[in-house]
Amino acid sequence: MQAQAIGVDVGGTGIKAGLVEVDTGVRLGEQLHVPTPTGAEPEAIAAEVRALVARLGFSDAYPRPVGVCLPSIVAGGRALSASNISADWLGLDARMLFQQALGTPVHVLNDADAAGVAEAAFGAARTSSGLVMLVTLGTGLGTAMVHDGVLVPNCELGHLEINGVDWETRASVAVKEWETLTWEQWADRLQVYFTHLEALTTPDLFVVGGAISAAADSFLPLLDLRTPIVPAVLGNDAGLTGAALLAARSRTHAGSVAR
Ligand code: BGC
Repeated sequence: MQAQAIGVDVGGTGIKAGLVEVDTGVRLGEQLHVPTPTGAEPEAIAAEVRALVARLGFSDAYPRPVGVCLPSIVAGGRALSASNISADWLGLDARMLFQQALGTPVHVLNDADAAGVAEAAFGAARTSSGLVMLVTLGTGLGTAMVHDGVLVPNCELGHLEINGVDWETRASVAVKEWETLTWEQWADRLQVYFTHLEALTTPDLFVVGGAISAAADSFLPLLDLRTPIVPAVLGNDAGLTGAALLAARSRTHAGSVAR
């Protein structure tokens, strides 16, 4: 596998990028961070990603695998949903967009999937086997299923419908803020969500990500589940780390296949 790879995490408000040592998940140098261009249109985001990747030292003379994660379902490189980014992403071949902008193969995936892979490899679930279910709590609810280190992509269980309601619209951090819910009120909603998710998937471990996981002590102890539940440890590096790791793995795999 390539020793270093570049990961980029595109969100509705910011874009983060870093150079990652893929054997350890350690970020080499600083995390770069720029605001998402207004409207979050594909071409504008691709231009920002190109600039960030160049700042991280990518060049024709010194190419590295590049991975980009998006708040979208991504299948075959195509964005099939668009959460807090322009609707112009819908159906777009995002892999082609980034490849053309960067002049190199780019691995594109869902942001929660990227975070899940990183937490499983290097973070809160690094010593766990079986099914790890990562749930990112933020503007949206993102989920990743990783079984024995292998990602099952695009599970999108943040949109579980409970009593006819998409639970992202009840339990995201954005909703907690809009409705000024107390920790206890919010935990009641999380309890409904995690109980449902637990019944459907029987994970071995829940990992809770998103910026609010830094305040995990305020809400995780309020939850009553049979599955252990722990905060993520990679913070806001998780998405870019997972994107870099999968880019390096996919490059190695592609290189090993005779074409
Ligand atoms: C989207 C997911 C995304 C999550 C976190 C949800 O609204 O549907 O694809 O992973 O937000 O960004």
